Amino acid sequence: MSGHPPHVLFATAELEPIVKVGGLGEAAAGLVGALRALGANVEVVVPDYGSAPLSNQSETVLDVPDWVGVAVARTGFLRGFGEVTLLRVDGIARPHPYVEPHTGRAWPDNDRRFLAFSAAVGALACARRPDVVHLNDWHTAAASAFLPPDLPCVLSIHNLAYQGQTDRSWLGHLGDSAWAFDQWGQMNPLAGGIRLANRIIAVSPTYAAEMLTETHGAGLQSILAGRGSAVLGIRNGINNAVWDPQHDDHLPVTYGTSNLTGKDLCRKYLLTRTTIEADDGPVLGFVGRFVDQKGVDLVLELARFLDRIPARLVLIGEGEADLVAKAARIASEHSDRMFFFARYREDLSHQIIAGSDILLVPSRFEPCGLVQMQAMAYGTIPVATAVGGLKDTIVDADERPATGNGFLAARAEVTDVVEAVHRATRAWSDRRRRQVICRRGMRTDWSWSIPAARYLEQYRELL
Ligand code: GLC
Repeated sequence: MSGHPPHVLFATAELEPIVKVGGLGEAAAGLVGALRALGANVEVVVPDYGSAPLSNQSETVLDVPDWVGVAVARTGFLRGFGEVTLLRVDGIARPHPYVEPHTGRAWPDNDRRFLAFSAAVGALACARRPDVVHLNDWHTAAASAFLPPDLPCVLSIHNLAYQGQTDRSWLGHLGDSAWAFDQWGQMNPLAGGIRLANRIIAVSPTYAAEMLTETHGAGLQSILAGRGSAVLGIRNGINNAVWDPQHDDHLPVTYGTSNLTGKDLCRKYLLTRTTIEADDGPVLGFVGRFVDQKGVDLVLELARFLDRIPARLVLIGEGEADLVAKAARIASEHSDRMFFFARYREDLSHQIIAGSDILLVPSRFEPCGLVQMQAMAYGTIPVATAVGGLKDTIVDADERPATGNGFLAARAEVTDVVEAVHRATRAWSDRRRRQVICRRGMRTDWSWSIPAARYLEQYRELL
């Protein structure tokens, strides 16, 4: 078996370009593409949220438990991606996968929607008989209860903070595996997946170690520790068909390591789209979801220091209403040096990553993080906290001048972040040093090919 490329059934709640809320959609698309490039036969299955048109499609009606209702899998070609299976179960189709778009509140029936989807993924595995099933996060973790016996199962953990806990009455739908999902008096899909999967793969080695601690384990640390060597970390890559400054249609000009002037033009262009008039100091960028994890509040605190550093600040992102409102208020108070794009747009996120000199990633925890790698690929210097995948991808350029590609703040505290921004600004002001650091990031292979090969190794070990 070891010589044959494996047949993998890969299940995820998000897949770019169909649906992307956070890094999951990007990571899933990047990994699937790279696995296919390495010869693996990957069927990727995503909830049929109702909007994606497929060509050449074929349908399979799945044999699911009665409580699921009807489950139909449509497999076909999606433009800009390749083959994909969209799986429809009752109630899964919605304008947003997780939340009511106007209020930002979770759909009240998310438990039912994703449990039914997970049960249908199990039925699809019974119909297709792949060599291995690969699940991602809580939305698909419960599929582990519905797989044929002896079918190896891998669970990727993109974020332990979301576990999908719900009423324990759902345990009644999980058959002989119910015990695995029984956690603190609730039914917990992620806990069940962690207990049942053959491999539990965190999206970076540092996060794999952090998950075992009380600080980052989100209550699941002892279950994870109990799984011993089945728990490991493989760092994500970035999709360099999408993230390449030499071929990026979203930029006013493209550039590479030999013509960094293109990057200066990207900065100028970005600033014309903002209210910023100050013309001194580096442009600091922030691209991310507005949630506590990402440390947006710390970025907003920086507004007070912009005159003194001096620096300018551009943010983009959506998320929690109070953080968004706060960003809008502070940006209007500092409009000469700060601008906030309150609607996430793919083209703007590319323009901010290319047009910034320094990208801020002050996360409180970060399983992997993709923006810091995207930044480095675009010659933008990351300033990040020393956690999770940020620590696995960023080498502090003051601590290790020969290999440094960014700057790390010890803790997610304003003082530490400001200190790291000062150090990055100093390096940026020295043109020679700036170019060395930028080029080092641009020349690193951040693609999915190395991580995908490591996933293949794990599949092979399980066969
Ligand atoms: C989640 C994590 C992020 C990770 C991404 C893809 O969004 O918060 O750190 O990069 O998943 O795995």
